[in-house]
Amino acid sequence: MATSSPYLSVRSLGGSDLDAAARLLGRGMADNPVHVAAYRGDDASRARRHELLVRTLLRHSPSWQIEGVDRGDVLAGVAASAPPGRCQPTVSARLRLLGRASTFGPVAASRLVSWQNAWSRHDPDAPHVHLGPVSVDRHLRGHGIGGLLLLRHVARLDATGATGYLETDRPQAIEFYERFGYVVVEAAEVIGVPCWFMRRPAA
Ligand SMILES: CC(C)(COP(=O)(O)OP(=O)(O)OC[C@H]1O[C@@H](n2cnc3c(N)ncnc32)[C@H](O)[C@@H]1OP(=O)(O)O)[C@@H](O)C(=O)NCCC(=O)NCCS
Repeated sequence: MATSSPYLSVRSLGGSDLDAAARLLGRGMADNPVHVAAYRGDDASRARRHELLVRTLLRHSPSWQIEGVDRGDVLAGVAASAPPGRCQPTVSARLRLLGRASTFGPVAASRLVSWQNAWSRHDPDAPHVHLGPVSVDRHLRGHGIGGLLLLRHVARLDATGATGYLETDRPQAIEFYERFGYVVVEAAEVIGVPCWFMRRPAA
């Protein structure tokens, strides 16, 4: 008997969804090279630490657009983006993030600060919509879920004539983003990890 894949649907996430979104982003990115370098430890502890920071960030970034793909009734992928001028955390979010990072110990906290400062230095001065974090649950990758999130994202960029921008530490993700019109504009080593900075020109 033929079986069908669960239905995929995209929606905006808010309030009560943010904990699940942070959990997904934590576990989905725990093996990203820059996360391994910053958090160290095993996969589960990196996932938990990243979840805690991302939850703080999502809860305290009210202007961000956070979208999720449900596969059936399970959240399978998340993409967050900051509108122009809002990609840096607010002062209150920054203090909360620092407070949380300090509970990971001074060495991890200082690596996290170095990583974030290095990425911030590459932010374009010109107005842009800043994409990230983006993640699809590991066992569901390669089924078009990330593509659905990106299609929605670039449709909004095109509708508003906005420039897109993102960072990635995964060489495999470069080709994925190139499909949606992003091009690598810079590359740099950040806390010992190669990172790429990508821009999508305004339509
Ligand atoms: C990058 C990512 C969001 C893509 O989501 P996805 O649902 O796998 O994407 P899609 O199924 O729409 O497209 C898959 C394509 O992306 C590429 N891809 C990139 N990373 C991949 C991965 N880890 N697994 C599978 N495909 C990946 C493949 O080239 C694939 O191409 P194909 O369709 O020709 O096989 C997802 O792989 C992911 O969450 N990666 C880990 C977190 C991360 O690195 N996020 C981006 C950092 S900025």
